[in-house]
Amino acid sequence: MAQDNRHPFLQGLSKHRGAPPTVITIFGASGDLCKRKLVPAIYNLAVDNLLPADFYLIGYGRKPMPDATFRELASESISKFSRRSLNTEIWDRIEQNTYYCSGGYDELEAFKNLSAKIESIEKELGRDVQSVFYISTPPSVFEPIIENIGAAGLAIRHQDSDKHTKVVVEKPFGKDLESARHLNRVIGHVFQERQVYRIDHYLGKETVQDLLVQRFANSIFEPLWNRQYVECVQITVAESLGVGTRGGYYEQSGATRDMIQNHTMQLLALTAMEPPVSLDAEAIRDEKVKLLKAIKPLRFGYENSDVIRAQYTEGLIDGEKVPGYKQEEGVSPSSETETFGAFRLNISNWRWEGVPFYLRSGKRMARRVTEIAIQFKRPPSTLFSENEMFNLESNTLTFQIQPDEGSTVLLNAKIPGLQTRTQPVKMHFKYSATFGSNTPEAYERLVLDAMIGDGTLFIRGDETEASWSLITPLHEFWASEKERGMENYVSGSWGPLAADRLLWDNGHEWRRP
Ligand code: NDP
Ligand code: BG6
Repeated sequence: MAQDNRHPFLQGLSKHRGAPPTVITIFGASGDLCKRKLVPAIYNLAVDNLLPADFYLIGYGRKPMPDATFRELASESISKFSRRSLNTEIWDRIEQNTYYCSGGYDELEAFKNLSAKIESIEKELGRDVQSVFYISTPPSVFEPIIENIGAAGLAIRHQDSDKHTKVVVEKPFGKDLESARHLNRVIGHVFQERQVYRIDHYLGKETVQDLLVQRFANSIFEPLWNRQYVECVQITVAESLGVGTRGGYYEQSGATRDMIQNHTMQLLALTAMEPPVSLDAEAIRDEKVKLLKAIKPLRFGYENSDVIRAQYTEGLIDGEKVPGYKQEEGVSPSSETETFGAFRLNISNWRWEGVPFYLRSGKRMARRVTEIAIQFKRPPSTLFSENEMFNLESNTLTFQIQPDEGSTVLLNAKIPGLQTRTQPVKMHFKYSATFGSNTPEAYERLVLDAMIGDGTLFIRGDETEASWSLITPLHEFWASEKERGMENYVSGSWGPLAADRLLWDNGHEWRRP
């Protein structure tokens, strides 16, 4: 049998999975996400031969634009942002099936034109195609888009086949519990839940998926994965970038809505949930919801608060001076938006009662790193001298989600020599060393899964609500208290001192990854 030398991602996928003929319509096609992530993702799927033979791309936006201009923009974005360079032969095949439709997001007539376009594609092809609608606009227009997809009859096409319509909804999914519930209701009026793909692009990252495999495909971890052996868990999602050109959006959002309610909570849910009965989408989502619901309500206020929020001030990143948050474009000079959040969570279930879960996420931190660290309890102190006990570090299993993907176990070992002296050492598994670099981007996997109809890596409606239930009371408190409780941290640091104190209360310390 011929050896399959392609990336392991592809070896697993292409033999078993295939999407039916598909038209993807991207709403907000002139936007940043479409340009930087979605078009390059589609192109890379084409390079890997993972697109269906009959594949069509329609960009949709308010500005009128000829097909040729959109094609040109798409090819430029591939040249600029794709992880693999533009191969004109492959791009030509997609390009000839790429179109642009213009119209308002609240203009039913324009959606009827879109429907006519999809029907004309079907007619030309002589067979049915599935429609995937990717909503990549600011959230203010999610609702009219969904309603107009429904009103134009696009949601119920080919309902009883694998070519039924799918809708992909970008984040943020609501800004609080009430708005998330409302959006779920609006979606529920138009679509069945099996048609809905709520994006959290962290779930598309290879290393996040590997977390499930490492947890459940190895028997050595499960016996230790509980309150008897785990001292605490730390989840860090740190960025060195600031808000860049997204100041306007970020002012309404802040770190808690932008990163903690979604990406960081998803990492927590996958780390702490019970083993699912299968790897099916529903089984995994059931366990995540159970876990999110078991998190105790946050304590906030000034005594014993479980939450610290802070804003970056000017500082140095990689030796370069960077402005403070209040000086960023689109940000109010008196802004009270947090760019950093640190949380201490307690999970009230049999496995985790009493084990603190620490979460932190921020912009302009010392470096870009996302990791999950399981810190185990220290061994009894009967065998080593007091001095050596001091040198021993807690065993820690760390999953490096990005940028140096892999996992590490920290152990204590004997330093060679006549005396029994110890030193912490690390056992590493490095993704790129074992599987090669140039791993597919999260959006590639997610676009493919939506086309195939696999919702495992997407968020179910009740998951978003469970996560908002935890965060919303905090936002209500902050809205009522305004400025008080906001800390500062210097750009290029690991956050404010108050975030360190949050752990010192329990005798713990943040890792310095
Ligand atoms: P943009 O601000 O670039 O907007 C996308 C498109 O939506 C614009 O090109 C414009 O298209 C249309 N649009 C912009 N503002 C409005 C408005 N006020 N009313 C109606 N239409 C508007 O957004 P992004 O591309 O950055 O993000 C799209 C979605 O993806 C958002 O929900 C965002 O939160 C999410 N997201 C983005 C990420 C990113 O890195 N950019 C990362 C993760 C999620 P036109 O004028 O042609 O109609
Ligand atoms: C997005 C946030 O969801 O995730 C951004 O809106 C953030 O503010 C981005 O920069 C981080 O994603 P990644 O994949 O670069 O870690």
